[in-house]
Amino acid sequence: MAFTFFFRDEHLLNLIAKLVLPELTGFSRIKFWDAGCAMGPEPYSLAIVCAENMGKFAFRNICITATDIDESGEFGTVIREGRYRDEEVKRMPNEILGRYFTVDPTSGTFVIDQGIRDSVRYYQHDLLGLRPIGIGFHLILCKNVLLHFTPEERVEVIRMFHGALADGGYFCTEQTQKLPDELSHLFERVSEDGQLFRKKTP
Ligand SMILES: C[S@@+](CC[C@H](N)C(=O)[O-])C[C@H]1O[C@@H](n2cnc3c(N)ncnc32)[C@H](O)[C@@H]1O
Repeated sequence: MAFTFFFRDEHLLNLIAKLVLPELTGFSRIKFWDAGCAMGPEPYSLAIVCAENMGKFAFRNICITATDIDESGEFGTVIREGRYRDEEVKRMPNEILGRYFTVDPTSGTFVIDQGIRDSVRYYQHDLLGLRPIGIGFHLILCKNVLLHFTPEERVEVIRMFHGALADGGYFCTEQTQKLPDELSHLFERVSEDGQLFRKKTP
């Protein structure tokens, strides 16, 4: 099982806070998809960044759908419970850890705040089925997943993301993952120092 942790890519989270969230603050429903979310640190990190940057009222409109192929069948339970070990949370800034987690004195684990938990829902989903979980997403995050696919699969999966995004919606992936050339007409890159792309409107 892949190990992942909170605030794994703080640089990208900061880019999202700076470039994406300000555009969405007035929306009554804000839809994000975290595809290949593992046990939850990534969608919960995104939720925390939204809570920190959007204000209480706009944050209530955030709905993050987290999905994973979840071969163990355990991800849903872990995400719903929101309980994480020290090594999964320790790279977070201390003040954020203190604001959004409580320590369970019996087990020494960190339990994430109910308000953050309520903004994330989880489904088991295979990206290679090429059926999106919905449409009209304002942001799709897919990190450290596409590298496991063939080049052809990568193109098809990103094409599916494009169809699932709202006009002007954003797609982001890890720093080492390039957008395939055959899809460059569908997205514009919005940051020189991050793999953050915006769906072009026809
Ligand atoms: C290395 S982890 C990345 C987790 C997280 N996105 C991160 O960057 O920290 C890769 C995840 O992709 C998931 N995955 C692999 N193939 C998948 C597929 N076909 N559909 C959905 N998820 C998949 C794995 O189960 C695993 O949780």
